[in-house]
Order: sequence, then C-alpha cells, then structure tokens
Amino acid sequence: MLPRPEVRWRRGAVSPTAAVGMLSVMSLVLAACGSGLATGDTATDAATSTTGTTTTTGATPGSSTTTSTSAPEGSSTSGQSQNDEALGIGDDYFPDTGNPGYDVISYDLTLDVDDDLVSFEAVAKIALTTTESLDELRLDLDGHEVAKTTIDGTEVPNHRAGLDLVLTPKQPLPAKASVAVTVDYGGTPEPRGSEVLGGLGWLGTPGEGSYVVSEPDGASNWFPANDHPSDKATFGFEITVPEGVEAVANGTRTGETTKSGRTTWSWSVRDPMATYLATVAIGQYTFFEGTAPDGLPLLSAVADEVVKQEGKPAIDAVLGQLPQMLTVLSQRFGPYPFETYGIIVVGKPLGFALETQTRSIFGSDMWAEPIYQAHELAHQWYGDSVSLELWEDIWLNEGFATMGEWLWAEATGGSGGPPLSAGSSLAPPLDPGPDAMFDTSVYVRGGLTLKALRQEVGDTKFFTIMSTWAADHRLANANTDDFLQLVDEVGGSDAESLVSAWLSEPEPP
Ligand code: ARG
Ligand code: ZN
Repeated sequence: MLPRPEVRWRRGAVSPTAAVGMLSVMSLVLAACGSGLATGDTATDAATSTTGTTTTTGATPGSSTTTSTSAPEGSSTSGQSQNDEALGIGDDYFPDTGNPGYDVISYDLTLDVDDDLVSFEAVAKIALTTTESLDELRLDLDGHEVAKTTIDGTEVPNHRAGLDLVLTPKQPLPAKASVAVTVDYGGTPEPRGSEVLGGLGWLGTPGEGSYVVSEPDGASNWFPANDHPSDKATFGFEITVPEGVEAVANGTRTGETTKSGRTTWSWSVRDPMATYLATVAIGQYTFFEGTAPDGLPLLSAVADEVVKQEGKPAIDAVLGQLPQMLTVLSQRFGPYPFETYGIIVVGKPLGFALETQTRSIFGSDMWAEPIYQAHELAHQWYGDSVSLELWEDIWLNEGFATMGEWLWAEATGGSGGPPLSAGSSLAPPLDPGPDAMFDTSVYVRGGLTLKALRQEVGDTKFFTIMSTWAADHRLANANTDDFLQLVDEVGGSDAESLVSAWLSEPEPP
C-alpha cells in the first residue's frame, strides 16, 4: 500500500489512543492484503559489493571462468549470457535491478534540460571497479535513446535487454579493474513504479518543472545506474536549464554559471549515496541558507508557489527547527553523517516524503509537519548513511526513522509514540514483501520493536546501541543479523530474542 497522506498522518501525529484504534483498522487492511509472515531468515546472503574475494581461473580472454564468493544468492554469473532479459544483483524484491560483477565509485551526471523543463540530453560518466571478469557490462536504464557508449575512452556497442543497457567491451574486462564508462543518452523520462508505489523517478510537468523521487527502484528512469542500495557511490551533477530557472540536487552547490541564456547548476555529493536517494528538482525555487550550531551548512529550496502561498515567516518557522532537530537527534544517534543538510519542497502534494541524502524532499502536503521533518532527518543516519543490503530489511530504515519521530516528540514535550500494545494489531515488520514495504506495520511495529528494546535494556544501553549502529556502519551497508548481533553484545541474549520476536513473530511478546 502506498503511504497515502492520511496513513502517514496517523503515524505519531495523533494521540496514542486514537492511533491504536486506527492501527487496528490498519491491521485488518494489512491482513486482507496478505502481509506475509516473516520467516526470521534474515539477510545473511546479502549483496555487498565491496566485500568478498574473487577467484579468476583461466587467463585467456574469452575462456575465463569466475567464481565470486561475494555473489549474492540468486544472482546470475556475470557477463557470459547473451540474455535478452535483465539480470539483477540478487534481491528477490526487485529481480531486475542492480547488476552483478562491479562496484560503482562515482556517477557524474551532466543534464542539458529542454525548455519544457522535463526532457533532457545527458552524459553519464561512471567510474567503477570490476569485482570479477566481465565480458559485458550492464547498467539499469529505463527508456531513453542511447546515442553512444564508451569504455575507457573507446566507443563500444550496446544493446538493451529488458531494463539493462548492455555494453560489450572489445576485450573482457579483468577482475579488480578500474573502468571508466560513459553513456550519452536522453529523452523524456517515463515514470516507473506501480499501483502500489505510485510513479517513481524523474517526474515532470511540461512548462512547470521536474523533481525526482525514486525509492525503491526508480533511479533508472533518469540515469544509467547500478540501481540497488548495496552499491553506493559519490555523485556530481551539472544541470543546465533556461536562465531564471533553479536546479537543486543533493550535496553542496559548487557552481552557478550563466552563458547565452542558459544556467548551469553544479552540485556535488561527498559521501557515498544509494541511487534511490539521488534527487534533482528543477523549476522556480527560493533558496534558504543557514548554519547549524556545530557549523554544518544548511541549504533548503522551496518552490516559489509554496513560498507565495505560505509566506516567508511560515517557512522560516519550519526551517528554523532544523538546527534544534539536528542537535537533538545527534545527541541520541551520534554525529550527523554528512557534509550538509536541508530540504526541498516541491509545489505539488507527493503523498509521502523521501529522505534524499543531505536534502530530504517533501511535497506541498507534508513539509510543515515537524514529525515528518524529524522522520526524514532521522533517515540520514538510518537508511542513508547506514544503508540496506537487501530491501527485505526495510524496517531498518522505516522503524528507525519512526523512532526518530518519537524521540523528537519526546524532546519537545510530546509522547514517545504509541504504547507497545499497539504492536499486536500489526504484521511483523521483517521481510514484508515488495508490495508491503511501506506499510504502517513496517513503520510502526518497526519503531515499536526499538521501543520494546529500550524498555528492556534501559536508556543508556539503548542509545549505545543506536549510536554504535550508526557509527559501525557509517557510509556503508548492514543487515538485520548485524543488528541482532549488536543487540546481543550490548543488551544480552534476552534483548536479542525480544527484538527477534518483535520482528518476526505473528504476535509481538
Ligand atoms: N522512505 C519514505 C519515507 O518513509 C517513503 C517512501 C515511499 N515510497 C514510495 N514510492 N511511495 O519517508
Ligand atoms: Zn521513512
């Protein structure tokens, strides 16, 4: 189910008693949706693109066979197939997304946006390291005309295989090689997604502007990507738009130059970022800049429409809370992980918000609600800095961000979320299935799992667990088993069993 505004509104924004009543209704809906029972079999075979060793046998190009101990379960061996179907990275929730055999280091995206503010011509420069020998290199790319592809400066042929853009190098790429890829492409992005998730990726309205929200698998509609959170990379953006139009993205603004009626906006992202967290918003925006008490640069961009409608004081009031939120959450989670923070507010209702790294994106519907601000800010630690290995662990994002809402509420005199008894009407949050990833059960029972842990071990140990989790996996990937191990180490085996039961048993303890 799509987290519709009314569903999101219920989370934490109402009194605990009212919430319990509504959550019971939700659980009936969830039961009717057949939210599967989690098996408790967690992400032990998770895809990590940076670990594992590769053994290559056979030195002759074309005759080599490779085995990679890091290959996730279910992933096909790379390269060898002349498959006309997409390959994936081995995540059952999205079998076509991501690709085997390499690790992206950086994406540099140069977008030349048309006057309609929706279509564009682009060059993607991708630096990657192979993890095994590859006789073809696959990227996810949905739609677009591809004009040219190169590998290490040499033009190479390409073809499509489902969601994959397949590049064929002259010679197989050896394992552990640094490879530079370029893709010249362009067109009008077609939104990805489903009835469940809504339109994802680059979403444009001709003449008005465009914005990007991609979670979970929408990034490939606007750039060629290894579209899976297990392969994080740094990003640079150069976005050229008609003069007088703003283009905002993640990270730090590094330039704004105008030539012959066209303005190029440059943005760079210092720390590795999952593809679904990359965002761009183009249109009429006003920038709001500031500094948090610890010196962290703050930069937000609000659609002029929203500025006009709400007035600057209302916007200042919302943005003015961010420094205190950063302080409160840093006290509990440890240092804020990134180089900057801020929000983007687009001029349309989105029905949800997204924790786009360093610059969370909101619609005109939800941006003013502090609880949602706290939620997306908490995701910067949990989801963005500590990323998933597999989507079945989505509770590690949403349960933790929901706990972030409750901690903010608590710090400002409100209640710290619904009582634990609210959990009994909700399905287990671990491995909810791809259609239920953003269900209330993942958010609220995920959050209640942490609340139950807090009650069990007390504040000191609980916040040690929260901050150690953020520190140990900062800018990296982790899974539920890693978390259970940490809970066991800090809180003991009873705490570990309690968390397991909250995550997987039909009825929480
Ligand atoms: N991660 C987002 C949040 O909880 C929700 C994104 C939902 N995705 C979607 N396609 N509707 O803040
Ligand atoms: Zn969330």
